[in-house]
Amino acid sequence: MKASRQLSLFPKLCDTESPKPVNVASVPQRSPFRYPGGKTWFVPTFRNWIKNLYPKPQIMVEPFAGGGIISLTALFEELVSHVVMVEIDEDMAAVWQSVVDGHAGWLAKRILDFELTKEAVIQEISKTDVSIKEKAFQTILKNRTFHGGILADGSGFLKHGENGKGISSRWYPTTIAKRFDNLKLVADRIMFRREDGLKVIREYSQRNDVVFFIDPPYTAGGKKAGKRLYRHYILDHECLFTLCKSVKGDFLMTYDNADEVKTMAREHGFQMRLIPMKNTHHATMEELVIGKDLSWMDRYPEVHEPLAEYKVDSKEK
Ligand SMILES: C[S@@+](CC[C@H](N)C(=O)[O-])C[C@H]1O[C@@H](n2cnc3c(N)ncnc32)[C@H](O)[C@@H]1O
Repeated sequence: MKASRQLSLFPKLCDTESPKPVNVASVPQRSPFRYPGGKTWFVPTFRNWIKNLYPKPQIMVEPFAGGGIISLTALFEELVSHVVMVEIDEDMAAVWQSVVDGHAGWLAKRILDFELTKEAVIQEISKTDVSIKEKAFQTILKNRTFHGGILADGSGFLKHGENGKGISSRWYPTTIAKRFDNLKLVADRIMFRREDGLKVIREYSQRNDVVFFIDPPYTAGGKKAGKRLYRHYILDHECLFTLCKSVKGDFLMTYDNADEVKTMAREHGFQMRLIPMKNTHHATMEELVIGKDLSWMDRYPEVHEPLAEYKVDSKEK
């Protein structure tokens, strides 16, 4: 389930840039969020994909941006010149819009000045009719003090947190403020849209110089599980696959390893690889990567193609 997809990369997964195994702690954490389904662990694989594209893409579209670690990595590491980040969630959108509007410094200062107590957080997040930058601050507070960073309805405050520190166990003001300060360096290369990601894929689909990193809301646990993680969790997956088929540039898509997803990928003639990752409970799981040509992934010893689907012949029934 995407809730627990964060933090660590399977320890043996090798980055071709370095002979040593990749340690997720070595991936620069540029996002100010701790986000359910966050893709920090996927950064080394993402780099290998985008660095090997020729000609170098100018724009990367991330239609389901969430905490945005992939877009931010692409910008900070000069892998593309611009990104289009799309996120439909109102709270998340307030943060990205504020960064693009030049309020990252204001947010950094607000974070450093805030004295975090449960009462102070409740008072802050209860304010209505606030400006976009104040809404962005509310989002950061919720993301850092709610269980699992989950903003969806029904989420609640961290109970015990790390080391029994409860609500403040994920509140690192200096670190989070620094990330916002750093975002000032790339803000003018972000085009942010609070819209339906599918619509934006369609808009850029005919451009050869545009690539797409696609991490849609999906949970093998079904709609109920999706609803727990994201406010917007219903997506027309069939439509997403059809759009991917139409894109002129390249795309890389990540999904839960679920049978119905693999069926859609096969029907659209895409390649698939399974890549190991560790969830927050340190259990090893496999994530599905989908694309037009994934042969570059075969240099990873732990990556493999999913087994061919076994279809029961109707006569056998
Ligand atoms: C799996 S998460 C993306 C996580 C992201 N890759 C990261 O590293 O943080 C999917 C995101 O898509 C957003 N979303 C859901 N439906 C959407 C839609 N139709 N258009 C744009 N964003 C959408 C959700 O709010 C959620 O933030």
